[in-house]
Formats: sequence, structure tokens, C-alpha cells
Amino acid sequence: MCGIVGYIGDKKVSEVIIEGLRRLEYRGYDSAGIAVVDRDGTLSMQRSAGKLTRLCEKLEKNPIDHGTYGLGHTRWATHGRPTEENAHPHTDNDGKIVVIHNGIIENYLELKKEMESKGHLFKTDTDTEVAAHLIGKNFDGSLIDAVRISIPMLRGHYAFLVIAVNDPDKIVAVRNGPPIVIGLGEDENFVASDIPAILPYTRKMVFLNDGEIAEVTRKNLNIYDFNGEKIEPDVQTINWDPIQVEKGGYKHFMLKEIFEQPRAVRDTLYGRIAPEEGDVYISEINLDEEQVRKINRIIIDACGTSWHAGLVGKFYLEQLTGLPVEVDYGSELRYRDPIVNENTLGLIITQSGETADTISAMRILKEKGARLVSICNVAGSMASRQSHGVVYTHAGPEIGVASTKAFTSQLIALLLIAVHIGRRNGFLKKEEAMNILEDMMKLPHHMEIGLEHLPGKLEDIAKELSNKRDFLYLGRGLCYPIALEGALKLKEISYIHAEGYPAGEMKHGPIALIDENMPVVALAPGDKVYEKMLSNIEEVKARDGIVLALVDTNDTNLIGKADYIIELPIVPDLMKPILYTVPLQLLAYYIAVKLGADVDQPRNLAKSVTVE
Ligand code: F6R
Repeated sequence: MCGIVGYIGDKKVSEVIIEGLRRLEYRGYDSAGIAVVDRDGTLSMQRSAGKLTRLCEKLEKNPIDHGTYGLGHTRWATHGRPTEENAHPHTDNDGKIVVIHNGIIENYLELKKEMESKGHLFKTDTDTEVAAHLIGKNFDGSLIDAVRISIPMLRGHYAFLVIAVNDPDKIVAVRNGPPIVIGLGEDENFVASDIPAILPYTRKMVFLNDGEIAEVTRKNLNIYDFNGEKIEPDVQTINWDPIQVEKGGYKHFMLKEIFEQPRAVRDTLYGRIAPEEGDVYISEINLDEEQVRKINRIIIDACGTSWHAGLVGKFYLEQLTGLPVEVDYGSELRYRDPIVNENTLGLIITQSGETADTISAMRILKEKGARLVSICNVAGSMASRQSHGVVYTHAGPEIGVASTKAFTSQLIALLLIAVHIGRRNGFLKKEEAMNILEDMMKLPHHMEIGLEHLPGKLEDIAKELSNKRDFLYLGRGLCYPIALEGALKLKEISYIHAEGYPAGEMKHGPIALIDENMPVVALAPGDKVYEKMLSNIEEVKARDGIVLALVDTNDTNLIGKADYIIELPIVPDLMKPILYTVPLQLLAYYIAVKLGADVDQPRNLAKSVTVE
């Protein structure tokens, strides 16, 4: 949450920063600001409430053309309303220290009172301004020293960038929770909270670890721990293509990312499977035969859409490994006292690898002795570095705030892990694994067929249903989590109330809601619970609900019963949740577009949730 960008070099500083913020706007978009320092030490700042375009309009009227280094921020408000005054950057008492920040400084009120009693004047309601004042108070010519002295006084989960007019030509970055990545260029360097801001300029990147401070000049990068010990930067080369962070002709990133799914699934699979051997090879999972044999329980830790992937993962893992699996929200797991020991496998599912609740819960699992494997889309992220092993999804950067291609890639990764463990603990027979892997290889083609004929039909249905205010999504077995995911997609981008339910639970309460105004999206593929789903659809129709049924191609049982029918290619049961996700994403997308909603940046949301 909140996008941070810093640049030092010969390019036009304000342009690099604004372009970086544009690529990070998915992290927060309720206000934005920029600060640039000129060669003669003049500090220029502009801030604006609202989206980045508002800041750009201001900059058109009052351009910041000069400057050799600077910072920019796009905000997701925590402390203080999203006004211009509260927009970052914030300065210290003398207006010479400039800070942008992501996260929360928990003891800011205490610090504010103390500094107010000593004459500091605060202009905003933010916790960030307190950090700026604190660093200003401790400044004695060296910015990095002032930051180092201030850190022990700050409590919370934060990342910030600081510049000082009186210690010029450097940016100091601190990480104590939320991500910071440093991009290394020739005679120029970049700092940001996420890779896309930097990707157009360099692929050489360094991810700060928690508890590290970086001093970035145009030629050098020095990293220290909070005690001042120097740390050797671990430079990584990112293989994402800069084209992936552009819309490429699509109206929205979300639509582009929905269409990228066959490619994302292929990339997540390829190089990892040997169908003829009935096995998968994922070296970075770091789980050898001995370690696999020890596992007697799996706990999945995730949030939001990734948690829905975890629910599908429970089916996959139980069926293919014979092990008991629990799926927990990071925000719940972290405050429980889970039963965990060295025979527990903690499976962490997170697209960003930075979600605060997921990370806190994984630390608890680790402390209690669990072996951790994370399924993650961002190389070098916190989750990937704090796990014993990692299975990367190769979805590429996901910019749309509503997760699409990351979700289907997570399902592929979960299947791979289930086969990996099942083959090594002796539960999964070679022939069965061979069949599953063959089916996985065919899946991207089935997704492509779906993507060819689904959009037009779903756009038409969306036009007819977009005036409804409540939706119910029903599924059973492997498709029950997909019903939850479909409902989440609809509510987050169209602001329509939607509930996902296991269809068998409908009669225990939600059936009371059904009337002629209630669309019910029923996932009814030809699997082992198909007939039960048909009965549930009958129950909905008996109460005049509007049924949109998703079925296998050539299923004629619902003709004349369902109001709308969407047919999907016939695939084996384990593949169905992945394929059946696609039409639900498209339905949510077209309804949101019809309602004129901001699809890629829905209100109140942010892509990486780095606060509790
Ligand atoms: C919904 C969505 C969120 C994320 C959740 C976890 O479309 O994207 O629900 O799934 O915030 O994020 P990650 O996977 O980055 O941990």
C-alpha cells in the first residue's frame, strides 16, 4: 500500500518520478505528491488530493523542470483523510528534511506530543510528518546518521525514503516491513516500493531486507543494518519484460491479465514437469524425499484471492498426498496458537509476497518449527526470502488491483506441489500423476478456446444483470472456492454486493434471499457433485431466482431452466476450477465496465496490503 519512488541521476527527475508513480498507482491512489531538489539546493514540492492525474495537472501549470534528485508518493490513506495537506511528501520543522512513507508508525501520537511540547509545529494528521520531524530533530549534517538515531524511537511497520537539503545528492531508504527495491543504473539509481516503477530503466535490482538502511547516490549504493554494520548488496536480475507493465492495446490491465492466463499457466508449468515419468521437478521448493516423508500435516496461510486458491489447494493436496490440510487467513492464524511442529508444512500463498498478515502468520509457523514453502509471484519478495523453499508463479507483473492471472497460476503451482509431495510420500501412483500432468499441459489450450468465445456472451449478460444489487455465487467441491472468488471479483470492482457459498449450504440460510431480483451464478460442471448442483439450481428457480449456469459443453440438462447458460470446454475434474474461474472474472469485468467503475483501481483497495 502506498507507492514510493525515488530517483537520482541525469534524467528529468520529475518525469522519472511521475512515470514511476503511474506504474505504482495500483498500490494506492487517493492522493499523490513529489519533491525535487535542484543543484543549488532549492526544494520544489507539489501535492494533490485525488488520483495522480490531478497532480500531473498541477505540474503542468507549475512545472518542476530542474533538479538532480527527488521523491514521489501515491497514497492509500491510513492516518488522516486523503486531503492535499495529508498527501506526502512531508517535511520537518525547518522544511529541510523530506519524507515519503508506506506503513504505519504506531507511536506517532506519543512522539508528536513530545515534540510539540518542545515547540515543533505540525501541519498534518499523518504519522509520516512525525518521522520527518524526528529525523530533522536528530539531523547534524549527516542524513544517514539522523535516520539511524531516529529508527529505535519509531515503533511500527514502515518503509520510507528521506532526502535532506543540507546533505544533498543522496536518498536514504529504510525498510522495516513494507518492500523497498533499488534499481541500479549507469550514473543513476532508482528506489521504489515495487519493480514496475523501475523496470523500464534497469533489470538489475536489490531488494532491501527488513532492518536495513540504504544510502543511494548516483554512483553508489551502501547498505547497513540498523546497528550500522555494512551489508553486501545482493544484486538480482529481474526477467520480467517491461512490455508486461503496459496495457498493450487493452482498455484495462485487468482485461489484459485475464487474457494472459493461458501464457501464465504455461510459464508456471514449463520446465517443471516430466509427464512421461509422472513427476515434477521444482528445485527451489527445497523439499527432499526425507523432508517430504516427515510431513504429517499441511497448514495453508493466505489472504483474499490467495486464500481462495488455498481452499482449492486443500482439495488438491488431500486428494493427491493423503495428508490433512488446513487453510487459514493470515489475519486469523497470526492471533491463534496453532498446533504446529517440525512435521508441519506451512504453505504460504501470496502474489505480492508482502501481505502483512500473511507474513506475520508465516513467521509464527516458522517459530513453531514448521518447514515453509511459499507460492509467490514476485522474486526477492519477503515471503520468498523467509521461506525454506519457494515455488514461483510465472504470471508476470499483475497491475490490475483485482487478482486474475496470479490466482490461476497459484492453482497450477498448488497442483505441482501436490504431485511433488504425493509422488515422494508414496501416496500418488505414477500413472495417475502422468495423467494429471498430461491434463495440465492441455489446459492452456482449453483456456484459449474459452477466451475466444466467452467475452462477447458475458458482455451481453453483464449488460442485462448490471442493474442488480445482490448476487449469489454457488459451487460445490472443487468449484466451491471458485464461487467465493467469483463473488469477490464482482464486489471489489463493481461494488455490487455478492456472496459466494457452497451450494449445499444454501438451504441453511441464504435461500431466504432468493427472489426474482437475485441473480444466482451456479457453477455446474459435469463432476461428481453435478446432480447435487442441478437440484440446487431447481431450488433457486422454484423461488424465481435468475440463474446463470456455467456448464460443460453440450450439457443440455439446463436448457429451459437456467436463464443464461455459459458452456466451457470439457476438462478433467482437477482442471475445472482453473477453467471455470475465467468466465467469472469476465462477468465481473464487464459488469464493472457497464457501471463505469474504475476497474484497475477500485475504491478503497490497494494491490499489496502491507498494513494489518
Ligand atoms: C483480490 C486480491 C486480494 C489479494 C490479497 C492477498 O482480487 O487481489 O484479495 O489476493 O490482498 O494478496 P497477496 O496474494 O499479494 O498476498
